[in-house]
Amino acid sequence: MSNANKSTGFTHEKVETNNFLMIVLILIVVAIGGLVEIVPLFFQKSTTEAVQGLKPYTALQLAGRDVYVREGCYNCHSQMIRPFRAETLRYGHYSVAGEFVYDHPFQWGSKRTGPDLHRVGGKYSDEWHRIHLNNPRDVVPESNMPAYPWLEKNLVDAEAMPRHMKALRVVGVPYSDEEIAKAGADVKGKTEMDAVVAYLQILGRALR
Ligand code: HEC
Repeated sequence: MSNANKSTGFTHEKVETNNFLMIVLILIVVAIGGLVEIVPLFFQKSTTEAVQGLKPYTALQLAGRDVYVREGCYNCHSQMIRPFRAETLRYGHYSVAGEFVYDHPFQWGSKRTGPDLHRVGGKYSDEWHRIHLNNPRDVVPESNMPAYPWLEKNLVDAEAMPRHMKALRVVGVPYSDEEIAKAGADVKGKTEMDAVVAYLQILGRALR
């Protein structure tokens, strides 16, 4: 047997003793494995189509989402409820891919210094959020979340919104020309606090 093996010229020993060959073969195997896992996701309805009832963010909600990203809320809050009992009992229905198709980029995160926020929409009143964001200790005495008092004072950049929505349309968010045209007027005079609260209140509402 061993003689026959040697005579074929391509033995396992050759692969194991040649670093370069080993690297190339590993890359090929990993690439095939990766493609088999990733490619189908681009064609599956459950990962590419919006869940029923999901609407693109309004101009104000979108502006709030920008504030969320700018302030780094994702450093402490995930937006991804995992399909485990402990999670669904605490936060509600687990997150599904179709809820995030209009998110560019999505805010799943993984760090949970604070609770998951994916289904926080409707959990509290707007007023609660305003007080909480202005100074979390006013409603949750033991909270170590930072205060964001400037949100109440800063105005949303109304001029930026139409361009922002146009860019999102390029990557597949179905905004109409009218929605884009009135985006600036929709957020004019609104504070960043108005915007973040509007954003928080819509989170996770499409499916519950
Ligand atoms: C340093 C970590 C940290 C950062 C940054 C942070 N939070 Fe929090 N957040 C917490 C903690 C801890 C709690 C739980 C205590 C509380 O309710 O204040 C919390 C609670 C919340 C809640 C209530 C959730 C619930 O279900 O009760 C909301 C809403 C929230 N944060 C929004 C935000 C937003 C919006 C931002 C960014 C502007 C932000 N957080 C930034 C740590 C953080």
